[in-house]
Amino acid sequence: MLNVVILAAGLGKRMQSALPKVLHPIAGKPMLEHVLDSARLLQPDRIVVVVGHGAETVEAKFAGQDDLRFVIQQPQQGTGHAVMQAVPELLGEGAADTTLVLYGDVPLVQPDTLQALLDARQEGLAILTEHVADPTGYGRIVRDESGFIARIVEHKDASDVERAINEVNTGILAAPTSRLKLWLDRLDNSNAQGEYYLTDVVGFSVSDGVAVSAAHPAHSWETLGVNSRVQQAQLERAWQEEQARRLLEQGVTIADPARFDLRGTLSCGRDVFIDVGCVFEGDVVLGDGVHIAAHCVLSNVTLGEKSRIEAFSHLDQTTTQSDVKVGPFARLRPGTRLGEGAQIGNFVEVKNSHFGPASKASHLSYIGDAVLGEQVNVGAGTITCNYDGANKHQTIIEDNVFIGSDTQLVAPVRVGKGATIGAGTTVTRDVPADSLTISRSPQKTIDSWVRPTKKKAES
Ligand code: UD1
Ligand code: CA
Repeated sequence: MLNVVILAAGLGKRMQSALPKVLHPIAGKPMLEHVLDSARLLQPDRIVVVVGHGAETVEAKFAGQDDLRFVIQQPQQGTGHAVMQAVPELLGEGAADTTLVLYGDVPLVQPDTLQALLDARQEGLAILTEHVADPTGYGRIVRDESGFIARIVEHKDASDVERAINEVNTGILAAPTSRLKLWLDRLDNSNAQGEYYLTDVVGFSVSDGVAVSAAHPAHSWETLGVNSRVQQAQLERAWQEEQARRLLEQGVTIADPARFDLRGTLSCGRDVFIDVGCVFEGDVVLGDGVHIAAHCVLSNVTLGEKSRIEAFSHLDQTTTQSDVKVGPFARLRPGTRLGEGAQIGNFVEVKNSHFGPASKASHLSYIGDAVLGEQVNVGAGTITCNYDGANKHQTIIEDNVFIGSDTQLVAPVRVGKGATIGAGTTVTRDVPADSLTISRSPQKTIDSWVRPTKKKAES
């Protein structure tokens, strides 16, 4: 049996926030959710989250995830005290049954590192430790003359000699569950902070003759905790660079990995290019040879191969076939679908509309709730008037239609195959196929027109 206990009761005062610390995001996802995602990959039998400050908000955020048990720690009297609150929920009494302790504010510990820790546990206790340049503030790993772990001493309780130790406790550990319960019963708070230290179980393990071994994280950022916005920003950047590195290794070109933001998943074909300052959210899929120019935001988007998104475009819940061109300065809203070779130019907004193959809206248009066939040309300034103030209506534009500039299509309306609409037309009725439709007030000229002149100010 594997239990995972996640400590998430702390206040997070230095975040200066109304939001509980573990709900603050890294890469768009609450820190606690990162921890849960990694924990779940270990297929534990039980996950217990210890909450305290902002408990209701934290629980509400994960409502409906039935594999989670929440226990309240109130007041917060230390990490050992926090794990004590989880004891009634722990499963398994056998020597191989394990409890893994994680921190809700150490979001990026990787499943491989946790597996290495579980492997190190064998029949004893395993702690995740690390050698750091500046160990200030951390618990120090005290080893005996033979190099075996003897105990952990907290910074505030440590002697000068102990403070010189640079192997530190990351806080993450894997313990035999039945032993852990006994050790927790033995904790006291006679220390510099008056807290029940989880770290004291290391000394108990040694005195009980239970082996203590150490595992180490594969990357230093895995065990970085977040106590402030500064640390959150630093961890965000470390994680973004890691995500960028993984994509580079898969063959994606990222113009500058330091100016890349992925808040979700990004799956790329071969030879994808991503310029600086782009943000990817939700699930984004880019086909072979896709080119994303600078400063684009793509949220839940799938792009067909060789598509190009030019600079400063915003795409949300949009799907395209191959070879489309979008932007610069385009806005594709939810429900946009573009057929092969379709083109959306600058200052064009599209919502809930389908463009057939090779159809174009190149300049300054609003296309909403529309279905366009293939080879349709939408002139500059064309607007689908899809909303009557109460309901939305559809515009249907069949194949090979040419719509002149500054046309308004008052929906519901249908434009038949091959029709031409003259510039400036307000289309209020269906347009027959292969015809010219135009609504325009006749042009008139007044000869010898004298412009008004500005009146002189009275003195
Ligand atoms: C702890 C370790 C220290 C280690 C360090 C790594 C102990 C006694 N010390 O110290 O050896 O080097 O982490 O960062 O364990 N929490 C609760 N309830 C509490 C207290 C804490 O849920 O009563 C949670 C916090 O929200 C946080 C985590 O436990 O997620 C760690 O608590 P924190 O106060 O940061 O521990 P440290 O004193 O830094
Ligand atoms: Ca801490």
